[in-house]
Amino acid sequence: MTQVDVLLGLQWGDEGKGKIVDVLSPQYDLIARFQGGPNAGHTLEFDGKKFVLNTIPSGIFNEKTMNLIGNGVVIDPIILKRELDNLKKAGHDPVAKGKLVIARKAHLILPTHQLLDAANEQKMGKDKIGSTLKGIGPTYMDKTGRNGLRVGDTTLPDFKDRYNKLVEKHKEILSHYEFEYDLAEKEAAFFEAIEFIKTIPHVDSEHYVNGFLKEGKKVLAEGAQGTLLDIDFGSYPFVTSSNTTTAGACTGLGIAPNKIGHVYGIFKAYCTRVGGGPFPTELDDEVGENLRQVGHEFGATTGRARRCGWIDLPALKYAIMLNGVTELIMMKADVLDGFDTIYACTHYEHNGETIDYMPYDIISVKPTPVLKAIDGWKTDVTKVNKVADIPAKLADYIAFLEKELQVPVKFLSVGPDRVQTLELN
Ligand code: GDP
Ligand code: IMO
Ligand code: MG
Repeated sequence: MTQVDVLLGLQWGDEGKGKIVDVLSPQYDLIARFQGGPNAGHTLEFDGKKFVLNTIPSGIFNEKTMNLIGNGVVIDPIILKRELDNLKKAGHDPVAKGKLVIARKAHLILPTHQLLDAANEQKMGKDKIGSTLKGIGPTYMDKTGRNGLRVGDTTLPDFKDRYNKLVEKHKEILSHYEFEYDLAEKEAAFFEAIEFIKTIPHVDSEHYVNGFLKEGKKVLAEGAQGTLLDIDFGSYPFVTSSNTTTAGACTGLGIAPNKIGHVYGIFKAYCTRVGGGPFPTELDDEVGENLRQVGHEFGATTGRARRCGWIDLPALKYAIMLNGVTELIMMKADVLDGFDTIYACTHYEHNGETIDYMPYDIISVKPTPVLKAIDGWKTDVTKVNKVADIPAKLADYIAFLEKELQVPVKFLSVGPDRVQTLELN
């Protein structure tokens, strides 16, 4: 019996999960997405090509790997169809090749979920979450409110009736907002996409994944978003609506906690956040702008500028604890190539105290980061392909992080391409 390895983000998302899942996928028989939905944008680059995946697991480009969209994911059929159509145009057809399966118990995002998301954000004005407007929150609300529609429902004879019943509820809620909308076009696209997703095999993800383990096959669970966006432990209410942590892999696929193997925690050599909410190490100055430009920090899903700041060790320690991280993966080291000095937040000053953990309230009382200065390496690392060629000062930075975080850094990423990845130790 094998175990499920997990790869997830330790910051506020966009750490580079897609790239590393793609790099690791040849070692796995199954890649399984366990939560979130098309709010995710996972970027993969190889052979001079670039792909952004929203719902599809990032193992899709590996010939021998199966891919599962798990029960914890919320699926927008229109977006999933578009993703698959675009892949097909680029010469990849995972459906025809039988490389993609979907959990029957995954919930469906309806066009009215998106409208509710937009109406709610519009009403919140300057206090808005900064949602990706993909209908994520309202869909998970219907799931926990026991009103939702699931992939498996699409094959039931009364699917349309169930759909209409839920949409009536949504229209009733929308009538309380000052919000104009036109549903007809989206609805037509939705039903066309539903017919399409019926052609993708539906499975019970709990039996499917455990079946792989029983056969001794290797499974990697792919997270979306990041730990600091977790519904329970993130910077609430500026979070997403699912559990982005290792626990979410158990509920989002149907695997027991004792089936979890390695937990790969992925982080950027600095930190970013997109959307609203607290960000203690944010740099609202030309240094932050420099990180944004050099790191191309613009959202893969929405194109929004990402907020940038220095690495935050109290936040990383918290994420490591919550997830049981066994190995770290450091991304985008190359973005810091030009800096004379970089900084790491080791503590916060909060309410007159120096602390090394994330306090409950970081919204009304913003923690002030205590920063440690670290020498930059001032070397182009994008072509480094041997551990021996890693500049000494970058190696020192990694050693410093390992000492602080008490977890080894297993991989180092020095550019967006698949090949710009080094295995350390
Ligand atoms: P994900 O959501 O965690 O999969 O990450 P995103 O794809 O949203 O954002 C990561 C961005 O950084 C993408 O544009 C990647 O192509 C890019 N990227 C990944 N690793 C590296 C790296 O090591 N260096 C640089 N410069 N870019 C990287
Ligand atoms: P990946 O998987 C970064 C953010 C949004 C917003 C908040 C809630 O690419 O790392 P939602 O649409 O979920 O209701 O938005 O969460 N957010 C992300 N930020 N990367 C993501 O995914 C994100 N998915 C959601 O910007 O602040
Ligand atoms: Mg992303």
